[in-house]
Amino acid sequence: MKMLSSKITLIALCTAHLAFAALALASEATVIKRADQLRSRYDYIIVGGGTSGLVVANRLTEDSSTTVLVLEAGEFDDGSDEFIVPGYMGKTLGSSFDWQVPSVPGEVLTSSDIKIPLGKVVGGSSALNFMIFDRGAPADYNAWESLGNIGWNWSNLLSYFKKSETFTPPLTSQVTDFDMTYDSSSHGASGPIHASFPPLIYPQTKNFVQGMNSLGIPTSHDQATSAIGVYYHASSIDPLTITRSFAKTAYHDPASKRSNYHLLPSSHVTKILLTRSSTPRAYSVSYRHLNRDIVVLARKEVILAAGAVHTPQILQLTGIGPSTLLRNLKIPLTVDLPGVGENFQDHPSVQIPYTFKNVFTPDSWSFNDILIATSGNALSFLPTSWYSPNTSSIIAAGRGQEGTWLSPLTAPEVTAGFMKQRELLLSLWDSEDAATMEVATFSMTQFQGPSLVISLQHPLSRGRIMVTSKDPYASPAVDFRAFTNPLDMELMIDGFLFMRKFLQTSSMMELQPEEALEIRGLETREEIRQWLRSNARPSFSHVCCTASMGQREEGGVVDSELKVWGTKGLRIVDASVMPLVPSAHLQATVYAVAERAADLIKGIL
Ligand SMILES: Cc1cc2nc3c(=O)[nH]c(=O)nc-3n(C[C@H](O)[C@H](O)[C@H](O)COP(=O)(O)OP(=O)(O)OC[C@H]3O[C@@H](n4cnc5c(N)ncnc54)[C@H](O)[C@@H]3O)c2cc1C
Ligand SMILES: *[C@@H]1O[C@H](CO)[C@@H](O)[C@H](O)[C@H]1NC(C)=O
Ligand SMILES: *[C@@H]1O[C@H](CO)[C@@H](O)[C@H](O)[C@H]1NC(C)=O
Repeated sequence: MKMLSSKITLIALCTAHLAFAALALASEATVIKRADQLRSRYDYIIVGGGTSGLVVANRLTEDSSTTVLVLEAGEFDDGSDEFIVPGYMGKTLGSSFDWQVPSVPGEVLTSSDIKIPLGKVVGGSSALNFMIFDRGAPADYNAWESLGNIGWNWSNLLSYFKKSETFTPPLTSQVTDFDMTYDSSSHGASGPIHASFPPLIYPQTKNFVQGMNSLGIPTSHDQATSAIGVYYHASSIDPLTITRSFAKTAYHDPASKRSNYHLLPSSHVTKILLTRSSTPRAYSVSYRHLNRDIVVLARKEVILAAGAVHTPQILQLTGIGPSTLLRNLKIPLTVDLPGVGENFQDHPSVQIPYTFKNVFTPDSWSFNDILIATSGNALSFLPTSWYSPNTSSIIAAGRGQEGTWLSPLTAPEVTAGFMKQRELLLSLWDSEDAATMEVATFSMTQFQGPSLVISLQHPLSRGRIMVTSKDPYASPAVDFRAFTNPLDMELMIDGFLFMRKFLQTSSMMELQPEEALEIRGLETREEIRQWLRSNARPSFSHVCCTASMGQREEGGVVDSELKVWGTKGLRIVDASVMPLVPSAHLQATVYAVAERAADLIKGIL
């Protein structure tokens, strides 16, 4: 074993010779390069060639008589190692392939005017995410159905989780060395996205798992059907090439030679056009390509897949949204739908600042090995009572809450929907079948030791995303409103205190952790609260729920067939439609939802 010196920087790694680029698939086969090569009319127009959009495009074009156009604001990625090599993840953040949407400064979090990373590239956020591939707990999805969304329950979604996935189990040696367990029958065997374990896992990941175990946190046999407890997570990596498996490689490339499938990159959609009938019908999409404004007609449907920030923006620009907002901005009202942009959720998170003196990379690992080892490879999802000594008092406080802590601008329908959610969420907070806190070990382990992040699941605080002008190229106001509900902060404080206990377990002590100076003096809940206010982040890059599925009189934007209320021919298939954020990283759920959406659109459900 050798200590890895901090002098080994990312830059040094970049110059190490690698042959990864050659393994990337050529992927631009029949992509349309110029708008004048398009048909004037398609059966379906998909807005956004990201994670969900490419799933739906692939599935709909399986029928060769169905024509589909995808309009994507970003370009194709340049095929460089930065996109596909696991050890490089994070390197494309802040590049021209990242929207970098600014957020509004928080009311509670003084640190929260961040730039939100979002993929602006074919493949969307799946092209630049951190490849963690996991599902939420069954109770998370059953909660969607409990809110009135018929058919959106765990057992129905399970078949779509499987449909999207090809699971490759860990190596036998890993199973032995790390006591890994899995259940292949709960995974997919032939779906487009690869879920696999990197061939090399940092040895200290075992300390993380054992440390959790020593506090009574059990290891989940397989997170795929039981995402509570601690587990080694798979990553969206093709095990043959050890490169990123994402919506472009998995769903776009295999479909790209179909003549009924067109994708036009660099096409920024500005609005949807609807008829003026009593129930307006979406018939066309307006977009800008190479400085020209163009419209294209949809014979059957327009499908929004622009992600949880841009989908509500496009709806609002189209005149579908809260009527007061639209009136103030002089956007002609198409459908008064007060839930558009509301119910905004994510997983607020904070890195617990520790350094580790005894962290090592095995002697036998080469530079290339470091680049194929992803991140910490283990996660822990904790029901409230497993980390919070205050569970019963916090839940009682929740049940007694008079205020909603929603924005004063929230419409009564949205408030009604939230009250229903709150009751359900508090029952999840009170259950051992659902997690309210995640502990993650994160990337760059080789430089600084495991970076430990805690992240709040199932928050009660709600943000909102609203346009501030008619300008389709201006970012909407993204207001996370993280921790505005004070109970979210109480859980976060208990999460912080749990981490102190965790770092004192003998397994973690082996790594010789040292608490950073900035948190060493924190003793009281109030002191911890103040530190969290200036150090927590409102996001774990899991933006969702801004055009959520639900009853119209409860602030729902789409019905259980994902059709936008009050319209015809308009659906949403991206992370916006989730009513509640699951306790998981989001991509596996986005793929499953989009797979189910495709079957709904095909009419076979
Ligand atoms: C940095 C980062 C790290 C993450 N890490 C993980 C992880 O490790 N594990 C995990 O499970 N999840 C992770 N996620 C979350 C996950 O990747 C996303 O939840 C998921 O990809 C979202 O899919 P989507 O289809 O809703 O949106 P996206 O994939 O973002 O797709 C939206 C697409 O629409 C396009 N678009 C937007 N506006 C317009 C417009 N006006 N006109 C035309 N096109 C438009 C965008 O360019 C984009 O391609 C991460 C996300 C990010 C950003
Ligand atoms: C899930 O939904 C389907 C279809 O609506 C239904 O048949 C099934 O009973 C539901 N499952 C559960 C566990 O509620
Ligand atoms: C939480 O529990 C701790 C330990 O029992 C106690 O000191 C603290 O006052 C409790 N805080 C709240 C908000 O209930």
